[in-house]
Amino acid sequence: MTLIKSRKYCVSLCLVLFFICHCDSSTNRNTFNISEILDSLQKGYDKRVRPLYGGPSVVIEVTLYIVGISAVSEVNMDFTIDFYFRQYWRDMRLKFDADPSVNMISVSTEYLRHIWVPDTFFANEKTSYFHLATTSNEFLRIGKNGGIQRSIRLTVTASCPMNLQYFPMDRHLCALEIESFGFTTADIRYKWVDGPTAVGMDGNVILPQFQVVGYRKTSREVTLTTGNYSRLGCEIQFVRSMGYYLIQIYVPSSLIVIISWVSFWLNRGATPARVSLGVTTVLTMTTLMSSTNAALPKISYVKSIDVYLGTCFVMVFASLLEYAAVGYLAKRIQMRRSRFMAMQKAFEQRRREAAEVADRAKQTFAIDLVNYLAIWGIFTNASKPFFALPPIQELKYNLLDCRRPFRGAQVQESMNGTRFDEDSPILMQIRPKDLNKMYGITPSDIDKYSRIIFPVCFICFNLMYWIIYLHISDVMADDLVLLDPI
Ligand SMILES: *[C@@H]1O[C@H](CO)[C@@H](O)[C@H](O)[C@H]1NC(C)=O
Ligand SMILES: *[C@@H]1O[C@H](CO)[C@@H](O)[C@H](O)[C@H]1NC(C)=O
Repeated sequence: MTLIKSRKYCVSLCLVLFFICHCDSSTNRNTFNISEILDSLQKGYDKRVRPLYGGPSVVIEVTLYIVGISAVSEVNMDFTIDFYFRQYWRDMRLKFDADPSVNMISVSTEYLRHIWVPDTFFANEKTSYFHLATTSNEFLRIGKNGGIQRSIRLTVTASCPMNLQYFPMDRHLCALEIESFGFTTADIRYKWVDGPTAVGMDGNVILPQFQVVGYRKTSREVTLTTGNYSRLGCEIQFVRSMGYYLIQIYVPSSLIVIISWVSFWLNRGATPARVSLGVTTVLTMTTLMSSTNAALPKISYVKSIDVYLGTCFVMVFASLLEYAAVGYLAKRIQMRRSRFMAMQKAFEQRRREAAEVADRAKQTFAIDLVNYLAIWGIFTNASKPFFALPPIQELKYNLLDCRRPFRGAQVQESMNGTRFDEDSPILMQIRPKDLNKMYGITPSDIDKYSRIIFPVCFICFNLMYWIIYLHISDVMADDLVLLDPI
């Protein structure tokens, strides 16, 4: 602001001076005729030749005053800056003698066509334009001692390679490079004006996504095949304000992850509710991820935001899989239970069959016994009673032998009927109280553990993420001149 004011002040001072001189010249016109001076400067002047030709190189001092930064584009990797570009140099051929009250004359930029001007260009420029409303935004002043001031308003879009690794906690150092197109260091040397006025910035420069922290002046010599050139750089430090991303991406994605946990509290049987919750959250995360990356260049490395969104996606996906696991386990347990029921039924069936067989065997045995007794009676003349028959125990084992091939289960027969052996291996394995478990857990255990594990994992991830990324992306270029200490 002060610079603008001082510039305006300077212009008005010059106008006043000019007016005074004009008044003077009207009264005392022989002493000061500006047209005469300008005409006299042209005598013997060769604008094709630089000042001090053959001597030391011309030093061109430069200042920038930034009036606006309109865009920092990640997609195109450039930034657009609007500034007053001022160059100061000395051309001894333009020295003039005039009234001592006149130190400097402001002339129309038409006069530039008659004098030598440096062929400055911006080495990393993509596009640029002059401001032409209402006339070309440019001025030229010629000092008494040959000092020349040229100021021009320009809007330049300059390339700025960006590393988006820490996006959106990134910061970028974007440079504007000033160089002569044709004059090597033997002819032209650029130099920043000493002091803090070299680069100024309007207080109203506000970018939606970035904060302009400071700038750095650089000066170096670049070696090209056509020679060595003096190059100035003005590097501006941009720091992204991540509020937008916090509100639009980080908070919503965290909430989506939290919503996906609701599933763990829902009934296991509520399949439509749990599946649609899982699928909806997965789809929302996908949309969020793709909309975030749509506004960014298609870079092939992982950005900070990708880490966060990727983790949220995995969490949401895992809670969908959790339901799949719960459902699968429940199904397996259900299948096993029904198989057990069927088996029990089969056992029941076999037992009944066995009982019938045993009954029949007993009857047969009774008939056989009668026949036996009869035959025995015939042949022994009934001298011995039937107490001499084989003992009951033996008969029992014979019956048992007939029943043996029954799925490995030992079916013990007794004269009272049949019964299962409680210690049989199959029945030992499948106790009714274990029927609700598989691999030692029940489906509701999975839900119960998930209620704890998922939130704990997410909180730990958040802590790690914010500590790491806020720390490692906090690297600022050193030796910055801070523009707006905050
Ligand atoms: C100034 O000098 C020019 C010639 O260089 C002449 O034509 C003009 O009339 C002069 N003006 C005044 C006001 O003397
Ligand atoms: C350009 O600079 C390099 C070193 O920076 C030097 O070796 C070389 O001689 C220079 N060339 C000219 C033409 O001055």
